[in-house]
Amino acid sequence: MLPLAVLISGSGSNLQSIIDKIESGALQAEIKIVISNNPKAYGLERAKKHGLKRTVIEHTKFSSRENFEKRLVSEIEDAGAKVVILAGFMRILSPYFVRSFAQRILNIHPAILPSFPGLHGQEQAAQYGVKVSGCTVHFVNEKMDHGPIIIQAVVPALPEDDGNTLGERILKWEHRIYPQAISWLAEKRIEICGRKVKVKNAQPCFLGPFNEPGLVSPGLEDKFF
Ligand code: GRF
Repeated sequence: MLPLAVLISGSGSNLQSIIDKIESGALQAEIKIVISNNPKAYGLERAKKHGLKRTVIEHTKFSSRENFEKRLVSEIEDAGAKVVILAGFMRILSPYFVRSFAQRILNIHPAILPSFPGLHGQEQAAQYGVKVSGCTVHFVNEKMDHGPIIIQAVVPALPEDDGNTLGERILKWEHRIYPQAISWLAEKRIEICGRKVKVKNAQPCFLGPFNEPGLVSPGLEDKFF
């Protein structure tokens, strides 16, 4: 079982998708701790409902980013987690944190990186008028939204979309590709070669049904749709 720490700041719907895939047996991982920097994050309720260890570490209560991150690192290590899953965690992490878990931090971003990095990727894409957008799971390196890409899902973007409607369409695929990426890591099927990530025995791509169009590469496996 891959021991995870999941870091959240808000709703925690991605956390929920990971919990669900663990509980269904599709994902061979264990959530050792859920950490939120926001005491009001709904994701904490989700964690409680599933009997998961949870901790609030409020960045506002620390005198510096370094001290905040030192506490994060010690909580994660004490809980026995080996991989850090950023699931809507709204703090930028410094090189100190990234080096503490080198190549063991994953993030999900609601756009097709390298397009629309930073905050509100869905809104940025809708405003720009792109015809497709989507989501990206990537390793975290020292530059924001920049590390090697594991999996991406592409969805249509419509002229009438705003950040919310496009974001809803994207979120459904976030909930599929994040557990899938973690599963590949748990199965030791991921190899990082510079900027490129190779997934052993990956399917070439996956096409969603007409009522929920989406293209995923590498391909989603059965248990993750
Ligand atoms: C998601 O859109 C994710 O891509 C972004 O923040 C949002 C978090 O949503 N990083 P949730 O808290 O998982 O519901």
